[in-house]
Amino acid sequence: MTQNAIEIENLRKTYRGSRTQESKEALKGIDLTIPAGSIFGLLGPNGAGKSTLINILAGLVIKSAGTVRIWGFDQDRNPRQSRRAIGVMPQELNLDAFFTPRASLNVQAGLYGIARKDRKTDEILEMIGLTDKADAYARSLSGGMRRRLLLGKALVHSPQVLVLDEPTAGVDIELRQMLWANIRKLNAEEGTTIILTTHYLEEAEEMCDDIAIIDNGTVTVRDTTPNLLSRLDSKTLVVTPARSAQLPELPAYIAGSIRTDGSLAFTYRQSEASPEDILDALRAAGIAIADVTTEQPHLEDVFLSLTGSRAIQT
Ligand SMILES: Nc1ncnc2c1ncn2[C@@H]1O[C@H](COP(=O)(O)OP(=O)(O)OP(=O)(O)O)[C@@H](O)[C@H]1O
Ligand SMILES: [Mg+2]
Repeated sequence: MTQNAIEIENLRKTYRGSRTQESKEALKGIDLTIPAGSIFGLLGPNGAGKSTLINILAGLVIKSAGTVRIWGFDQDRNPRQSRRAIGVMPQELNLDAFFTPRASLNVQAGLYGIARKDRKTDEILEMIGLTDKADAYARSLSGGMRRRLLLGKALVHSPQVLVLDEPTAGVDIELRQMLWANIRKLNAEEGTTIILTTHYLEEAEEMCDDIAIIDNGTVTVRDTTPNLLSRLDSKTLVVTPARSAQLPELPAYIAGSIRTDGSLAFTYRQSEASPEDILDALRAAGIAIADVTTEQPHLEDVFLSLTGSRAIQT
């Protein structure tokens, strides 16, 4: 087994312009390694270059410069092996409307030269929750069902590296949880390396071991998820008072607010204050405490602090 699932060096992509469209430098020299066996999140605002990067990995977009190794195989020197090692669920729907899910999976398996007896069609249909739609035309599937079929197609050749571009966009909550459970299982039981993009940062926070943030064609941050979260120094202590209470007098370095449920929230920098300061202020004001919880910063806060205040949209 190789140490890194993906090794990318100085990867560049410029989409050529036309009479009506200027050329666009979508990737400006990306260096990125993704460890084998990890669940890796690729985050960034709209237009950052995430899909361009993924589509290059998939062989769907031709890079302008740089090196890409997939499972140790150079994409230029060993195109067949590098392609075999990866399965990609693209962001764009590209299904044949006249194929049923079962036929789509079989055709895809055929493309990879997988013999009928070795195919896992039923298992995959089960995993993506399309068993009862197995023989329906793709055009009769809902948007969420089509996206799940795309995931199924990425899995037919049991790739070591599975890349998911917005796997849960437009998929309802229950199915999203089922998909994540299955993806975690693939990672844990088969050791499949998972690379994903998502605009649901809570999802990334929960799922990913490592995260890279891409902004405007470059990697601006790459770290483990816990390290990224600890970059933000702020923390919030939420106190439920035994009886309704006003905010106590607070030192200037603690920001207090009363929430709609009557709880008192105190936000402070860990480097400047400690929970003791807050408890002291509460005692001094004679406020009895029924319950205390703390809130950690979320990936969303980290993301916004690193990429500016631009809205994240799907
Ligand atoms: N086929 C193409 N021709 C020309 N420009 C393109 C093409 N595909 C993407 N681009 C441009 O390249 C840039 C990066 O696009 P890309 O789709 O990689 O972004 P993204 O990070 O996936 O965004 P999103 O979060 O919206 O999916 C954008 O400015 C986009 O307009
Ligand atoms: Mg994209």
